[in-house]
Amino acid sequence: MEHKLFSHATISESLNREKFGHPLYFYRSIESTNDKAKILSSNGAPEGTLIVADEQTAGRGRFNRRWFTPQGGNLAVSFIFRSNLTTSDISQIPILGGLATAYAIEYVCNISPKLKWPNDIWVDQAKIAGILIETSYNIEMPEWFILGIGINVNCTPTEVTNPSYGVSCLADIIGYKIDRVDLLQQLVHNVGLLYNKLGKCSITEEWEERMLWKGQHIEVVDSGNNPIEGIALGIATNGALLIQLSNGDRDRVYSGEIRLK
Ligand code: BTN
Repeated sequence: MEHKLFSHATISESLNREKFGHPLYFYRSIESTNDKAKILSSNGAPEGTLIVADEQTAGRGRFNRRWFTPQGGNLAVSFIFRSNLTTSDISQIPILGGLATAYAIEYVCNISPKLKWPNDIWVDQAKIAGILIETSYNIEMPEWFILGIGINVNCTPTEVTNPSYGVSCLADIIGYKIDRVDLLQQLVHNVGLLYNKLGKCSITEEWEERMLWKGQHIEVVDSGNNPIEGIALGIATNGALLIQLSNGDRDRVYSGEIRLK
């Protein structure tokens, strides 16, 4: 089937009725959509602003890793939030990002992705999407909040940035290429739906239903700290990992990467 053209006009039309995508910035090639979002936010870009790129030449991942978005294959998107939400609602935006990505993939590809704490999207034991949150605080509240999402749609990155797990792309998993305009529209739609829930109900249970390695023995590795191991129990409303240690105590972990023990 013919795919829609990945262009400003087509994307803009598909996002007509969505909360995000107004204004819409589309780039055929850019260094990083998150970098652009930061500049736009500092210059007063409103909530709802969406930055989409066909190619990123200096895409960034967590822990200063690189993130590859080659031309013509994948999705690189940054959402700008700027709101009167409480601090606790704001702490749910990363969770919202992972969940919205999983829902969009499920709808378009008919597969059920898992969420790996804190925020990776996995299918069949391989990472297919990642999330990078960036924010700027004034005295007590975030001034703006950027949710950057990268999805390997039709192209698997060739360079390994983290040898501890495999990476893949959706097309390789389902066996055919995916229309990026459709996937983007679903992603933006689900971010809007989940955003409407904040402050009204918790989305952590929805996240936990898809949690990778829930109930399993895992290890959390953070730069500089000793690894913590235990049973992955779930997540707190602020996104912290809930873990049961070998002495029976429960602990919360706020950052790091997990792997199966
Ligand atoms: C990770 O898993 O390490 C996070 C990857 C986040 C990549 C996205 S692509 C869109 C946005 N722009 C960036 O430079 N990074 C994020």
